[in-house]
Amino acid sequence: MPRLEVFPQNHMKTAYGIWLFTAQHPLVRKLKRFAQPNVHGHKTWSSSYLIMDYLQENRLKKNSRVLELGCGWGPASVYCASQQKARVTGLDVDENVFPYLEMMAAANDCKVRTLQASFNDMKGKKLAGFDVIVGADICFWESLTDDLFKLFRRARRAGVKKIILADPGRSTFDDLCERCEKAWPGSFSHEYWYALEPKRFEGQLLILDFS
Ligand SMILES: C[S@@+](CC[C@H](N)C(=O)[O-])C[C@H]1O[C@@H](n2cnc3c(N)ncnc32)[C@H](O)[C@@H]1O
Repeated sequence: MPRLEVFPQNHMKTAYGIWLFTAQHPLVRKLKRFAQPNVHGHKTWSSSYLIMDYLQENRLKKNSRVLELGCGWGPASVYCASQQKARVTGLDVDENVFPYLEMMAAANDCKVRTLQASFNDMKGKKLAGFDVIVGADICFWESLTDDLFKLFRRARRAGVKKIILADPGRSTFDDLCERCEKAWPGSFSHEYWYALEPKRFEGQLLILDFS
């Protein structure tokens, strides 16, 4: 874990080797005056810890090119860059999340590229630049189920090897799982998973292994 010399450690937490800011941290409170995320990207969401826990046991290859969909403040992006030595891009439709992501990356001495785009903007050519796609708590509207399913179809065609999505267990996520199982029965798995850091959190993982 990197030593934190500049950031006050009050109102920070740690999980799986990285530092995370809470919404009460003085720097977050200051940043809120300039950047106000407006599509639920106003904090770190706990489904990210499921991805971290899963990757502790199922490590990425060094230098893997990872795309995080709907990264928000980017807890999973920062974990992949810092703890799995991946080359990570955090994508979000809301540009106001990026200052928070950049602060999280700085606190963890790692680099995460940012990309302002929606799921529908990611066509085959762009997706071909990634080996692995991750996403935490990004399937919360019915329309997103459809957008994500179509993105996965394009990603498979573009040669993406693995997709890992985490969710607390919303009905929209169940619908996405059902569609993926039907489309790619041999590549699909659905796992009930729990994380123990920063505290116990239970949820679900959708995994598509196209390798
Ligand atoms: C519930 S937050 C989760 C943030 C982050 N993954 C985490 O675990 O802390 C959902 C994120 O998805 C982004 N988002 C929602 N719809 C999107 C879309 N169609 N394309 C890209 N990003 C989207 C939001 O801006 C927000 O940052």
